[in-house]
Amino acid sequence: MLNPDPESALIDRFGRRITYVRLSVTDRCDLRCVYCMAEDMRFLPRAQVLTLEEIARLGRCFVALGVTKLRVTGGEPLVRRNVLWLFEQLGALSGLHELTLTTNGTQLPRLAAGLKAAGVTRLNISLDSLRPERFHAITRLGELRQTLDGIAAAQAAGFARIKLNSVVLKHRNHDEVGDLVAFAMAKGLDISFIEEMPLGVIGDHDRGEAFYSSAQIRADLAARFELLPTTETTGGPARYWRVAGSATRVGFISPHSHNFCGDCNRVRVTAEGRLLLCLGQEYSVDLRRALRANPTDDERVHHSIRQAMSIKPRGHDFDLHGQPIVFRHMNATGG
Ligand code: GTP
Ligand code: 5AD
Ligand code: SF4
Repeated sequence: MLNPDPESALIDRFGRRITYVRLSVTDRCDLRCVYCMAEDMRFLPRAQVLTLEEIARLGRCFVALGVTKLRVTGGEPLVRRNVLWLFEQLGALSGLHELTLTTNGTQLPRLAAGLKAAGVTRLNISLDSLRPERFHAITRLGELRQTLDGIAAAQAAGFARIKLNSVVLKHRNHDEVGDLVAFAMAKGLDISFIEEMPLGVIGDHDRGEAFYSSAQIRADLAARFELLPTTETTGGPARYWRVAGSATRVGFISPHSHNFCGDCNRVRVTAEGRLLLCLGQEYSVDLRRALRANPTDDERVHHSIRQAMSIKPRGHDFDLHGQPIVFRHMNATGG
């Protein structure tokens, strides 16, 4: 397990090596962010969702194939019952360098210490506004206090280099980017600003009209902070800048204005066990079937994963102005 067979390394037909896998453990969430979900969502029946044992097994298979970074996503991963058990299983995999989590933070007061003990190395926490009414409007259900308490709990549990994620929408929160950076600096956090992606029909706003580019955000921030370019990377899609005189890094995830697909190193697994080769396309392989048809033979699962590399597309074709071409919502995928 420590030294994966080079023959098994996951390399797609464009020569990209896959070392980062995002595992969605549930499509459910305690919030309903306007860019992510429609107000009235129907969630998957439980029998269609992978069991925690199946997800742990998949983690083991990916690591055997040379994957070094696993990120657990949702929906909101921490609303899944017994999810700590899964983190403990994944945290024990030798060969894994990073076990990370993307969360909305609401459950962290309860779970942060257990996650740290299980071996989670880094957290990304979604936070789009520091104003309680706005936070509530964007998340439809959320209380800002809960997420702020979650961030504090994560820091108290000893997590370093926590990253905030803010999806920026024009006329919704674009005027808060400076305050969000100031908050990140005051708390010793990093922050990434994300351009909204057209996944699923959300019914809330026109995504073309709400578009606010990373370049515009950078220009807004320049009025208040000195941003120094860096070549730092976390192995994800963000390009990072450092705020002069501070340890805070400001990342930009710009699928529209700066396409990063050429360096893509990742695939994702939906809560139903569909291996999606690209966030912005539908090419996928049913790993749930492979797992359930071969309950003890990991080799068969490895084979399905390796085969899937041949259908990884070159990149997304996001268009904010037409109808979405991908009908699954972000909560079904975890980003
Ligand atoms: P680190 O770099 O490890 O901090 O994580 P990350 O930025 O890759 O992950 P995170 O879960 O915080 O996701 C931040 C945003 O990046 C989300 O909006 C994701 O949907 C988006 N994202 C992650 N991977 C991809 C990708 O392959 N393609 C696109 N278009 N967006 C992605
Ligand atoms: N476009 C961009 N980012 C999104 N997220 C959820 N939906 C979208 C979308 N349509 C973000 C969340 C979270 C991360 C996993 O993805 O805010 O930070
Ligand atoms: Fe939940 Fe995250 Fe989607 Fe918001 S963006 S509804 S917190 S899964």
